[in-house]
Amino acid sequence: SVIDETSEIRQLEEALAEKLGIARVIIVQGDSDSASWVKQDLCREMVNELDKVLIDGDVIAVNGGTTMAEIAGIAPSNFANGRDLLFVPARGGLGEDLRNQANTICSRLAEKTLTRHRALYVPEQVTESTYRSLLAEPTVRDTLNLLHSANAVLHGIGDAVTMTQRRHSGNNTLEIIKEKQAVGEAFGYYFDEKGNVVYQVPTIGLQLGELTNIPHVFIGAGGKSKAKAIASFVKHAPYHAILFTDEGAAHKLLEG
Ligand code: G3H
Repeated sequence: SVIDETSEIRQLEEALAEKLGIARVIIVQGDSDSASWVKQDLCREMVNELDKVLIDGDVIAVNGGTTMAEIAGIAPSNFANGRDLLFVPARGGLGEDLRNQANTICSRLAEKTLTRHRALYVPEQVTESTYRSLLAEPTVRDTLNLLHSANAVLHGIGDAVTMTQRRHSGNNTLEIIKEKQAVGEAFGYYFDEKGNVVYQVPTIGLQLGELTNIPHVFIGAGGKSKAKAIASFVKHAPYHAILFTDEGAAHKLLEG
């Protein structure tokens, strides 16, 4: 029955939160790998929870990827409900297709919900000296300051090899990823199964260690194929983070 299914999912959520060492896990039915509506359900849960915690004047940091793009897709037009909200990209370009870039997602979110957004135009794969001068740019600094004042951050977790291929990263990136046995990626950091950072794309924006200062950390990642990636990243997530996932990933994570 529906009631049995619901209580079974609640038990899965508690078991997984305990196993991963984070405050809360929210699981939707199905597996994102095999049906696109599952990812949409997962995003709907994220939007619902976000709605509960946001207040007037809040800054929301948002990352890129197909999961975050789905959030912009399903966010209802009355989401703001009178609140002045500002969506800010959590990281500069990581070589994604335009529709999966944080800049695009923030602008779509703002347009759809009649709120505001900021852009963070920084090219990917810059040299060390360019990186330093970009950091000194007033517009970049303004955006970084906004990110540091965010009340919430929404982000995805990618499978390491999938992300390297999708981003057309430099020739030997894939080799490095394979050699170092990276399994997961988030914020441009790549992690091995133990959670060690084994590679990092130098990009401007929120750094991994800064998540702990943000009151609401919402992670959206589903699908059995992402189980290892989720486990590798979550070792860096602050305790108060909430993982939004699906049964496909949850069952795999609990058996591993
Ligand atoms: O950094 C993580 C990726 O952006 C996640 O992308 O949601 O398309 O798997 P995805």
